[in-house]
Amino acid sequence: MLAKSIYTLAIESSCDETSAAVLCNNKVLANFIATQKIHETFGGVVPELASRAHQQNIVPIVEKSIYSSGVTLDNINAIAFTNGPGLMGALLVGSSFAKGLALSLNVPLIEVNHMEAHIQSHFIAENVDGSKNEIPEFPFLCLTVSGGHTQIVLVKDFLTFKLIGQTQDDAAGEAFDKVAKIMGLPYPGGPYVDKFAQLGNQKMYSFPIAKMQNSDFSFSGFKTSFLYLFEKLKRENVKIEGDVLNDLCASAQYTICKTLVDKIALVSKELNIKNIAIAGGVSANSGLRNMLQTTAQKYHWKLFIPRFEYCTDNAAMIGISAYYKFLGGQFSDGNIAPNPRMTIGA
Ligand code: KG4
Ligand code: ZN
Repeated sequence: MLAKSIYTLAIESSCDETSAAVLCNNKVLANFIATQKIHETFGGVVPELASRAHQQNIVPIVEKSIYSSGVTLDNINAIAFTNGPGLMGALLVGSSFAKGLALSLNVPLIEVNHMEAHIQSHFIAENVDGSKNEIPEFPFLCLTVSGGHTQIVLVKDFLTFKLIGQTQDDAAGEAFDKVAKIMGLPYPGGPYVDKFAQLGNQKMYSFPIAKMQNSDFSFSGFKTSFLYLFEKLKRENVKIEGDVLNDLCASAQYTICKTLVDKIALVSKELNIKNIAIAGGVSANSGLRNMLQTTAQKYHWKLFIPRFEYCTDNAAMIGISAYYKFLGGQFSDGNIAPNPRMTIGA
């Protein structure tokens, strides 16, 4: 028989954020993230350093979450962890810790797919501050845009996903980070491009939008075109600062967002689905949010945009995924091994 309240301790360690959360059913009681600053120096995530930082961060972040949630380890009914996709060494830290804890507490272990969890963050009913969220109606389409993935997913219910399209080369977040790196901005560059773009003219420079036949994306042509323009400006001794930097950011951001929004609009029309959601780190982007709002009005979509704290990697999304898996009886055994290339809906 199900416990009336299910308390889940969730752990996320797929890339460069170590995060722990405690949920009571579909409510978040605590959600803490330790961001690994060390990668900034290298302009990208260094897998070995990520694993070491997870090792250092995992105990303090779990302790902090448990303490802040007001529950004790004795109350926990399940331990959830990210089992992929992600960096093998990083995933191993979270999964080993979760397995050990589940064994010692004698509670079920629940593996979670990181990309499904980004989408399932929309199912969080209540936040730490007590505020409530609107849960999307099924079926809906989710544009999942992160540093490693760019996908359009058909979501049929809390646990059923169908991949409709995805990027054939760079992810949207990667495109943001790469243009930021070209311009000498810190890593991860997406939030910096967003900040400068708000001061710039998005029509100043134009970049190609790949015309893919199906529901897929491509950002490699855009990235090369951005690099050529940047090199041309340098040859002309143009300083990449002030208005030039702002305009470059605004124009690059416009191109990435237009690529994403045009495609989701096409898929929405083809499948006749007007419930549209976004998820993943890039869903924090102000240009994408604005463009989606305008497009939603035009096509009469019902749009679902996650709270900022659930856009980038966090353990609350792992906890909500696990809650629905718990209800569905989907538990893992101790032999489970991380799958860095885990696909969605598989
Ligand atoms: O979902 P996420 O935290 O990690 C992955 O699963 O990859 O996404 C990280 C990505 C990075 O590429 C970062 O630059 C991008 O999300 N990002 C943004 C913004 N905030 C985060 N990109 C554009 N604008 C933002 N405001
Ligand atoms: Zn992610």
